[in-house]
Amino acid sequence: MILPEKILITGGAGFIGSHVVRRFIKSGSYEVFNLDKLTYAGNLENLKDVEANPNYHFINGDICDYTFIKSLFHEHDFLGVIHLAAESHVDRSIANPMEFIQTNVVGTVILLNVAKEFWNGKDGKRFYHVSTDEVYGSLDDEGFFLETTPYDPKSPYSASKASSDHFVRAYGNTYGLPYVISNCSNNYGPNHFPEKLIPLMINNIKNKKSLPVYGKGENIRDWLYVEDHARAVQLIFEKGTTGETYNIGGGNEWKNIDLVHLLCDLMDQKMNNPQGTSRRFITFVKDRAGHDLRYAIDATKLSEELGWKPAFQFKEGLQKTIDWYFENEDWLDDVTSGDYMKYYEQHYSRSS
Ligand code: NAD
Ligand code: DAU
Repeated sequence: MILPEKILITGGAGFIGSHVVRRFIKSGSYEVFNLDKLTYAGNLENLKDVEANPNYHFINGDICDYTFIKSLFHEHDFLGVIHLAAESHVDRSIANPMEFIQTNVVGTVILLNVAKEFWNGKDGKRFYHVSTDEVYGSLDDEGFFLETTPYDPKSPYSASKASSDHFVRAYGNTYGLPYVISNCSNNYGPNHFPEKLIPLMINNIKNKKSLPVYGKGENIRDWLYVEDHARAVQLIFEKGTTGETYNIGGGNEWKNIDLVHLLCDLMDQKMNNPQGTSRRFITFVKDRAGHDLRYAIDATKLSEELGWKPAFQFKEGLQKTIDWYFENEDWLDDVTSGDYMKYYEQHYSRSS
């Protein structure tokens, strides 16, 4: 009998991480160690359905704790690391950049350094850094981000992710650490923390609260259903070429205001409201500082080399997402209680 391989997934209690953990567990080929600090964004409820699986282990810890990370590698001979733990919200990075440097840069370098020390040239190891398309900066009306697009990060969040990508490549180049990186566009789906555009709008429409659209709502994002991202992560971890970067994207660009209109209409149907009810709650607020205009991914390399394509149509994915938030009101109430409202009120107290 072949034993499942031990892998370390960081940030597995967060939005994307929980879908990645579930996918690897369900494949039956891995014994997953989910290392997560459980910040405001981490939630063990996201993994309730797999927590009793004998191949799942939760470890509460901080990637910035060097001694602790060393002890983990000492105890387990991991086949690979899939690194998702990060501070992930651009607005929070504008308000408090230092936490982003600590977790996203220092934490990543600690993981790299420990992996280098313990793996030390052993065959078959892989350090996978899950990164973002925001490292490439901002596009005008035309063009797409390619894997060869020069880095041009513009927010403290994207600068911290760009920096960590550079460190991953530097460890590959200098010490021969076997790595792979992916840069993905905006994800959406179940378990998304309601500070990000789509779940924030769903929560506010549901509660008849104002719908804050930054600036004129003309910024464009390329949306991908989270399970399509998790599938790409497994494919790249298992079949991607060492030392390569893969862009992941939905080929699904939406202007923010058009997306908010669509969400209002889908939610009106769901709640049996007369059409147009929710759109009345849209409020144009002060723009995000340094707001990137447009992101759009060219994922040809991933599709040609590894055969990946998104499986979910946008309206199907959005409907599944909306249904999930209605079926999981306790989850939503739980994450929007306590400090959430403090953050929310401070952040949205500004007017247009
Ligand atoms: P998230 O904020 O929902 O989850 C982050 C997780 O990391 C949380 O569970 C949190 O508790 C954990 N964490 C934070 N600091 C930690 C630390 N110091 N030690 C251990 N755990 C810690 O984020 P997400 O949206 O799921 O994003 C996951 C990763 O994917 C991030 O690296 C992000 O940059 C990247 N990414 C996100 C998107 C997106 O659209 N959300 C797109 C592309 C890439
Ligand atoms: O592109 C990938 C990135 O996508 C990830 O790396 C980040 O972790 C993730 O948070 C996301 O970043 P964005 O800044 O694009 O996502 P957010 O949901 O915060 O915002 C999406 C767009 O909506 C952006 O143009 C800002 C706008 N917006 C956002 C919020 C929260 C609003 O107009 N109103 C809002 O209330």
